[in-house]
Amino acid sequence: MFGFVLGCVLVACSTTTTIRVERSDRTPPITAGTTPAGGTTEPAETTPTDPTDSTSPIDTVPLVDTGDGIGDPLFPDLGNPGIDVLHYDVQVNAQPDAPTLDGTVIVTLRATRDLAEFTLDATTPAVATVSIDDAPVEFVHESPELRITPASPLAAGDEVDVTIVYTAPTSAQDSPAGLPLGWTNTPGGSFVLDEPDGMRNWLPSNDHPSDKASYRFDITVGFGLTAVANGSLTSHTTTDAGETWVWDQPEPMSTYLAIVIVGDYELVEGVGPNGLPLVSAVLRSDRATMQPFLDSIAAQIDFLDDLFGPFPLASYGIAITESFPGLAMETQGLSLFSRDDFLDGELGFLQELLLAHELTHQWFGDAVSPEQWDDIWLNESFATYGQWLWLDHVGLQTLQAQALSGLENRPLGATGDPTVDEMFGFNSYDGGAAVVHALRLTIGDDAFFTLLQRWIADNNGTSRSTADFIALTNEVTSSDQTAFFDEWLFATTVPSEFPEGR
Ligand code: ARG
Ligand code: ZN
Repeated sequence: MFGFVLGCVLVACSTTTTIRVERSDRTPPITAGTTPAGGTTEPAETTPTDPTDSTSPIDTVPLVDTGDGIGDPLFPDLGNPGIDVLHYDVQVNAQPDAPTLDGTVIVTLRATRDLAEFTLDATTPAVATVSIDDAPVEFVHESPELRITPASPLAAGDEVDVTIVYTAPTSAQDSPAGLPLGWTNTPGGSFVLDEPDGMRNWLPSNDHPSDKASYRFDITVGFGLTAVANGSLTSHTTTDAGETWVWDQPEPMSTYLAIVIVGDYELVEGVGPNGLPLVSAVLRSDRATMQPFLDSIAAQIDFLDDLFGPFPLASYGIAITESFPGLAMETQGLSLFSRDDFLDGELGFLQELLLAHELTHQWFGDAVSPEQWDDIWLNESFATYGQWLWLDHVGLQTLQAQALSGLENRPLGATGDPTVDEMFGFNSYDGGAAVVHALRLTIGDDAFFTLLQRWIADNNGTSRSTADFIALTNEVTSSDQTAFFDEWLFATTVPSEFPEGR
């Protein structure tokens, strides 16, 4: 969340900007930096630029179509053709207040076609060495691409371990989607924020939501500090180097859903509905203040699993971190919040909203992730709808009032076709939740909740597109709902009134 409520209260609410990033008029502003690699002396190819294009409104947007992306309409340089990452074995040593972290990542990937070379996404990491199956290989790092040349070409289907040794800044980097992203040091520790394109700032990766993989995080931090990441804690050891915390995330996860937080965190365990393990992280000094929020998790899951189906992941928890107010993020299995928004220790409107929103994302966004970034409404509009249903359930605001407000306040723009600027704007959140509500009224409650439950049950662990969602809607309703989606999802102006309910 950093959407409408907080977005409009705490930062400028950019719901009406309509700057569109087009491949054709993009001016790549990134300074190409070549890292001499494993014996490579070849100069990096520079990306062609058009210095005469001073009219483009996106000059300051650091997006560049390197030709190496997988064709995401909003982030053309993200992802890398010809590879499918299966696993990231991440080893990070981050000492308190150090300006950089030391990283080693073993990326286990499968070639999906014959490859003489391939790329990974890496912006600010400074790459020292790259090896494949333990043998050093040539590489050229020209941000945002890390171009790797195997000793002999890979054949489609080949599986290799690519080991990258690097350092990365521990301060966030600007992103065209608004918030600074990446590893972010704080006075007492650090957090990462990765959505949509932040992992590549601290971890060389195939940084696109369509390529899910399993993870192991082996994080070494200063003495007395705790490192928490996705999945479950498998070991904690103390050595001369500091404290090492190992977390295992075996279920598939998109890069933008990674969490790594460091600080004086206490891990709080509990049990949720149907025996679901709950593991949360709160700062030791915040423990008493945060207890009401820890206590609220199970009831929210209990409410939402009746609507969306069983909780789709192996465990859940909340991480109430030292970050910045208004920040909340649906990091997989462990949603991230800012302690600043919870210091009252009371479950008010904002806290209920944030907790329900990020929890709903565990079904919509985490279990089933977007195929491309212009499918973001599949995340944000549904998370907002879940948040509305919860706020209605606890009597804080009726669904009807929230839906009307979402509809009435929509700025011009299509929920199903956002620009980079709008992807976390009103029409993805409340404006889009109004579209979800209109769908419910159009197809009726039975079909609507069957659709939502089928969406999760059929697709858990994968990344899916808006077209997939429409196809499932048609299947579940045994009808052609094209007209509905044209009118509500893809039109820049939607009807001024909701359809009659059925
Ligand atoms: N997905 C988060 C949420 O709505 C918001 C992340 C915002 N990120 C950003 N770069 N603006 O729960
Ligand atoms: Zn959200």
